[in-house]
Formats: sequence, structure tokens, C-alpha cells
Amino acid sequence: MTKVSPSMLSADFSKLGQELVRIDEAGADWAHLDVMDGMFVPNITFGPPVIKSIRKYSDIPFDAHLMIQDPVRYIDAFADAGCDLITVHCEAVGDIKGAMDRIHEKGLKAGISLNPETPVSDVEPFLPYADLALVMTVHPGFGGQSFISDCVPKITWISEWAEENGREVEISVDGGVNPVTGKQCTDAGATVLVAGSSLFKLDDMAPAIAEWKKYGRSL
Ligand code: DX5
Ligand code: ZN
Repeated sequence: MTKVSPSMLSADFSKLGQELVRIDEAGADWAHLDVMDGMFVPNITFGPPVIKSIRKYSDIPFDAHLMIQDPVRYIDAFADAGCDLITVHCEAVGDIKGAMDRIHEKGLKAGISLNPETPVSDVEPFLPYADLALVMTVHPGFGGQSFISDCVPKITWISEWAEENGREVEISVDGGVNPVTGKQCTDAGATVLVAGSSLFKLDDMAPAIAEWKKYGRSL
């Protein structure tokens, strides 16, 4: 079954703990936590103290997406806050391989992400160390944008790379995912669907999550 990781960026930040319970009870596999530093992207969200404060509300795995420069500086803090999987961007400044190594040293899964304009050749050097590849299908920084379908071939490319190299890599898609675009992504080889606005706008997101899980591919 496809995994579904609702993006808490679209949650009501004034009651994040309850929103976490809401996605957990709706059947979400992971909680996607978008961390933005105002430098790598033109927006600022939250950091380790907020993540730590909501950790007690649910046992659901925390899928942290670090849209921050020089992420190695903060890996320990995010790990200690209760993240289970930490994804860094290949375009970020700093030692990205070192950040992935540190994530593994902390006993967590490491992800590598690429922006819509970034070619797969830029992410390929990191794939041998990645438990997850996060394909951005919008420009990172804000929820509610339209899906960029030009990015779909990257999902296929990474899926084929994993097959050819005998690697089990989750392929996650983030940005503008809805019932239609999500299906395109799983057909292309995605194993995880991240979605913010299209899920949080629903009064009851459980039926949509149940439907998306049936889309197909998983590791
Ligand atoms: C954007 C974030 C996404 C965002 C997706 O920078 O990485 O996770 O929350 O939101 P939607 O699903 O609304 O495009
Ligand atoms: Zn994200």
C-alpha cells in the first residue's frame, strides 16, 4: 500500500497536537513536518521545540522535511525532538552527505530531496546513502501551490535507479498532491504521498487516505 504523509503545514498551528491526533486517527502513515528557515526558502515555520512539544500526542512516525541551509548543524536537535526520518535538500549549502551520515548515526532514516528545477543528476550522488528520496513537485516554501507535472519523470528515474542498483528507497512526492496528481505519481513509482491542503481542507480525511493507500506501489 502507498504510504500517506499529511503535511502539518496545512494544519491549524494553534492546535498542532490535536491536528496530529486527527491525522493519526484518519489513518495517516507518517506526519510530514515542514521545517523552513527563511534562508533556503522564503518562509519560516517551526523547529525542534515545537516538534518536541507535539511528540507526546501520537506515536505516528515523524517525517521531517528540512528546508534549511547547512542542515548538519541541526540534525541532533531534530533527532532528539523525536523525528524518525529526516530529509535534507541536495541544493542546501553545507555538508549534505555529512548531514545524512549524522542522521544515520542518530539511528534514524535519511532522506534526500530535490527541487523542481534540480536535475536528477544532482541528487544521484546521494541516493546510495538515502532511505528516501523526496521529489518536490512545487517550489518549496508554501502549501497550496499547483502540481508541476514536469517533475513526474524524476520519480520514474529514481524508481529505475533503485531497481538497477538493488536499493530499497522510498520515493516520496511533495507539493500539489491531490487524488489525480497522486495517482500519476504512484503510477510513476512513488511509494509515499505527502499532501497538505488537499487533505486538510476535508472535514474527514480518512476516506481519502484510505483511497490513496490503495493506489499502488510501496516498498
Ligand atoms: C512545501 C512543503 C509541502 C507542502 C505541501 O514547501 O514542502 O510539504 O506542505 O502542501 P500542498 O500539499 O498544499 O502542496
Ligand atoms: Zn514538505
